[in-house]
Amino acid sequence: MTYAAITGWGSCMPPAVLTNEDLSTFLDTNDEWISSRTGMKERRVSHVSAIEMSTVAAKRALACAGLDPADLDLVIYGGVSNDELCPNSASGVQLALGATKAAAIDLNTACTSFCYGLATATAMIRTGMVRNAVVIGVELISRYMDWSNRNVAVLFGDGSAAVVLQASDHEEGMLGSVLGCDAEARQTLRVRGFGCTYAGRDISFGDTLWDFDGQQIFKRAVNAMAAASVKVLADHGVSAEEVSLVIPHQANLRIIESVAKYAGIPMEKVIVTVQKYGNMSAATVPVALVEALETGRVKPGSWILMPAFGGGLTYCSLLVKWGSRVTPLGTSDAALPPCNETALDMVNRVRANQDPHGRSLAGLMAPRFAETRPGE
Ligand code: ACO
Repeated sequence: MTYAAITGWGSCMPPAVLTNEDLSTFLDTNDEWISSRTGMKERRVSHVSAIEMSTVAAKRALACAGLDPADLDLVIYGGVSNDELCPNSASGVQLALGATKAAAIDLNTACTSFCYGLATATAMIRTGMVRNAVVIGVELISRYMDWSNRNVAVLFGDGSAAVVLQASDHEEGMLGSVLGCDAEARQTLRVRGFGCTYAGRDISFGDTLWDFDGQQIFKRAVNAMAAASVKVLADHGVSAEEVSLVIPHQANLRIIESVAKYAGIPMEKVIVTVQKYGNMSAATVPVALVEALETGRVKPGSWILMPAFGGGLTYCSLLVKWGSRVTPLGTSDAALPPCNETALDMVNRVRANQDPHGRSLAGLMAPRFAETRPGE
């Protein structure tokens, strides 16, 4: 039997920090509201493209695995933040890595994109289609955030991380998965401005509007992640007590606490990064995984649960059996160029392109979407 061992890991976090206080300089919000409702204190804003962040993360993961990029068969770029839709982003990473024989796939299931990518690459390795893969979770949400909307602007951040998967005879890697989609609620999270619906219309860069029903998403996220976690554990005969670590999607501390409670797992076993990085969508789980490895929280042979949900509303819970190695085989000197701006300066530059009162997209699209119905 062939398994897909996780042999390399690396993250790439942009250095510029946007605090709750920074947000309150241009939004009617404050640290107390954001901290108490979400657990977030700060998040990162990237000065480089999503492909650049992904490339650094992937180089670090490859060095950790001791794998030459030329031996990669597959690059999966998981996320909603594409520099362009065509050419795809995975091809940009493939080129930058020099992974010349690798297939290059963009995979977008919103915040679950990394987890769906991990499941896809694992299946491709286990069925013999490929042997070596890199799976990336990345987001550059700061560039298309509606910075005039406090309902969403305080919640998200930028970041990236990657893992290397390799064919192995040892029973390890992702051994179980529950993947699903609560599509009846797909209208609860929509970013207007990308895609064929908007192509060719009078829309300028930066004109994105977010539809966001936070309370609906909250309830459905807790139910879906908890049920998927209970099911994946039951399917594989692993008890909640046997789980060493939970690495959940980080959208809200209260969501994470509720999922842990329903799954019967104490918070001491849960990795939480939401306070310092906010919701990085597809990047939250791999960034938290890398942090868990770098801080010695992943032990050889341990069971790890990865529940996530995102726009769609896609959801999943993955069950991973860690292998014997928890330390890198090597390190990479890949790094981002220096950042000469503050996070607030970068956000203010994006805001300068967004006119909250007279934007073309609002006038063009709002009437048409006013009657959007569930399942549309
Ligand atoms: N600062 C201050 N006040 C605010 C802010 C803000 N940033 N945002 C909203 N408010 C106000 C609202 O206007 C409302 O005021 P009102 O009572 O006068 O109408 C009040 O705060 C309460 O708002 P609620 O929506 O009831 O607040 P809630 O406790 O539900 O928390 C939150 C909102 C944090 C968004 C929560 O619902 C949540 O976390 N939902 C899930 C979010 C999520 O998962 N996002 C990710 C989506 S999927 C993915 O990962 C891409």
